[in-house]
Amino acid sequence: MAVTEHAKKTILEIDGLYLSFGGVQVLNDISLSVPKGDIFAIIGPNGAGKTSLINCINMHYRPNRGRIMLNGRELNAYKPHQVASQGIARTFQKVELFHGMTVLDNIKLGRHFLMKFSILGSFFRLPHIVRDEMTHRAEIEEEILDFMGLSSFRYHPVGTLPFGVRKRVDMARALAMRPQLLLLDEIMAGMAVEEKEDIASYIMDVQRDLGVTIIWIEHDLSAVMDLSDRVCVLNFGTKIAEGTPEEVQGDPQVIEAYLGRQRSELGQPWEAP
Ligand SMILES: Nc1ncnc2c1ncn2[C@@H]1O[C@H](COP(=O)(O)OP(=O)(O)OP(=O)(O)O)[C@@H](O)[C@H]1O
Ligand SMILES: [Mg+2]
Repeated sequence: MAVTEHAKKTILEIDGLYLSFGGVQVLNDISLSVPKGDIFAIIGPNGAGKTSLINCINMHYRPNRGRIMLNGRELNAYKPHQVASQGIARTFQKVELFHGMTVLDNIKLGRHFLMKFSILGSFFRLPHIVRDEMTHRAEIEEEILDFMGLSSFRYHPVGTLPFGVRKRVDMARALAMRPQLLLLDEIMAGMAVEEKEDIASYIMDVQRDLGVTIIWIEHDLSAVMDLSDRVCVLNFGTKIAEGTPEEVQGDPQVIEAYLGRQRSELGQPWEAP
């Protein structure tokens, strides 16, 4: 049975967030709540502050003001790797994989931070327990390869793979961190239509089968309207709308923000109602 809106818990809460660089206000009083289990899209024209917002969520950028809470726990004092260990993983707008390394080794790197903590702990433990852990990790890596349809590419250097497959590797690397919240930064950018459809089905599988909440920055508005549970719209660092895809599509401020821009800036055309 579908979870009703009322029953959904909030996984991520942002309260009064401000970010500036050298006097330029990049994020201006952003507040939002992301319901657990949702696909929560963030849209907005180029330079609106979308990537900066997720850079704040994983504490890569330090907000000037405001609070970010994951399951009620404030993240502001955390370092990026500590945020990751709390269960927030991301993919990057520009693929940041090691192109000379195999798919499997790139995915293993996704687990590196988890291992860093256990290596010291393992030092004091019995070898067979450590061996069990290693086997368990290998199983997880195989599961993720399988889940993301990458098993046959396991030993391929990432640099030799088609663009759409590399994006899947980036997503697999993030999933190797066993996140409860996954931040996707324009994962469909530069993809052909079939590749977009392909990655869309993986996004839905991650939500449905793994129960991961997804914050998804995307320029392809028709994909956003099809897949998202909720949509937040940024323009010039300010949140101008938030709601269901239907609510946001009909919002006069959103229509104005989009119609005021060149279509080429927006990626896919979107038929305003
Ligand atoms: N590290 C930084 N130093 C200075 N300015 C920055 C930095 N990061 C982002 N900005 C500025 O913040 C603004 C928002 O940028 P951001 O990358 O968050 O936009 P975006 O909505 O992700 O855009 P796009 O759709 O093009 O990816 C831009 O004016 C950008 O130049
Ligand atoms: Mg961006």
